[in-house]
Amino acid sequence: MANVRLPDDFFFGAALSGPQTEGMWKAYGKLENLWDLWSGENLGAFYNRVGSYGGNDMGARYAEDFRIFHELGLSSCRTSIQWSRLMDADGHLNREGADFYHKLLAAAREAGVEVFVNLYHFDMPAYLFRRGGWDNREVVEAYVSYARAAFTEFGQEVEHWFTFNEPIVEPEQRYEHGNWYPFHHDFAQARRVQYGISLAHALAVGAFRELQAAGTVRPDAKIGLINCFTPPYTRENPTPADLEAVRMTDGLGNRWWLDLVTKGSLPTDVLDTLAEHGVHLPVRAGDDAILAQGVVDWLGFNYYHPARVQAPKQTVDEWGNPVFSEEYVWPDAVMNKSRGWEIYPQGIYDFAMTMTHDYPDLDWFVSENGIGIEEHHAARTADGRIDDVAYRVPFVADHLRWIARAIDEGARCKGYHYWGVIDCWSWNNAFKNRYGFVEVDLQDNYCRRLKASAEWLRNVAVTHVIED
Ligand code: FCB
Repeated sequence: MANVRLPDDFFFGAALSGPQTEGMWKAYGKLENLWDLWSGENLGAFYNRVGSYGGNDMGARYAEDFRIFHELGLSSCRTSIQWSRLMDADGHLNREGADFYHKLLAAAREAGVEVFVNLYHFDMPAYLFRRGGWDNREVVEAYVSYARAAFTEFGQEVEHWFTFNEPIVEPEQRYEHGNWYPFHHDFAQARRVQYGISLAHALAVGAFRELQAAGTVRPDAKIGLINCFTPPYTRENPTPADLEAVRMTDGLGNRWWLDLVTKGSLPTDVLDTLAEHGVHLPVRAGDDAILAQGVVDWLGFNYYHPARVQAPKQTVDEWGNPVFSEEYVWPDAVMNKSRGWEIYPQGIYDFAMTMTHDYPDLDWFVSENGIGIEEHHAARTADGRIDDVAYRVPFVADHLRWIARAIDEGARCKGYHYWGVIDCWSWNNAFKNRYGFVEVDLQDNYCRRLKASAEWLRNVAVTHVIED
């Protein structure tokens, strides 16, 4: 292998979210969100009983964290505003919460790091969840007024906006697979929620365009959506039924969002198949015009693992839900055992080429990628650093090499954000799997400490060269 070089204008940064980093769950007038609600009801569901309350203490340390990003050669980071912090329970702007984010943005500017702002990262205010969440149009409307408030308040400060992170995750985790609060196994509800989120996205993009035309949002600002796309594969010599499983996996998880953000509509083959199975979306007159507003300026692609599927043995599950695919266990799969996710760097290239072919005008960037390993027993070097080089460096290097190849072959990939960079709280896994190039020491008041891999990251971010 030879050295590989990424384009000069390719950017490197960090991906974060408000609910996984800020902590201060009750400060600055913050309301309870869904994670606080679940933590309050059952702390035992969270690894080592670490609930949503502390994040990784970034709420108190953001200036330090932005300096660390800068020192590592990173020019941007993406985090999210917490809806439950920016808005009060009457749906009005919470001034204390807004001021917190103004200070955070100012600290980033001072450190020379641009903040990309995402509006939603699985963190609905609890009182809106109790009213039906994304299954209720009034909550969709509440999100749009929150988005408007954010655009209005930060419209002159922020250049890169995103409506949602991974909009497929809540439908699946909360409503279909029953893994996350409220633990439903209701395929039809999951699709209604997916539809509600799609409308919310499109309405927010519409509001953004309107406020930009009015001068409230700066003229150079852009808006996008971020999703965890999973390049779909099946076994060798597939049957037509295996290919059908691929079509629906790809349709619900990938094409649904890609069509929404490039065409302003949803894939009709997917909707037709849903209808054939008695799953109907709560479509109202005028919805087509709403979805048409959903076309974005660019897209974020979170990549962790592929989807390997085959025809399901049973087409209805124990809860009466339709089943379109089941997992195909590829014998050659390399697994990250801490997380249970397959490591398949080529997937980033395959999906990049699919986008290049099927959505040729769409600009995008890798908005998350990373490896989370249980590191609390990991070797420390003589200077006290966690020695993670053996697994973190090849993981990132391999993904970057495939990205470089995709760019050479025409992919419109503009940059790479590594998930976390600094260890943070991962939902119900809490701090079990560590993603960072920078350790957060929970035994030492969240102290930040560079891991052995940090030097490698700095070198790549500065030189754009991935050495052999
Ligand atoms: C992604 C989420 C992110 C983080 C990583 C590890 O699916 O977007 O919040 O938890 O996984």
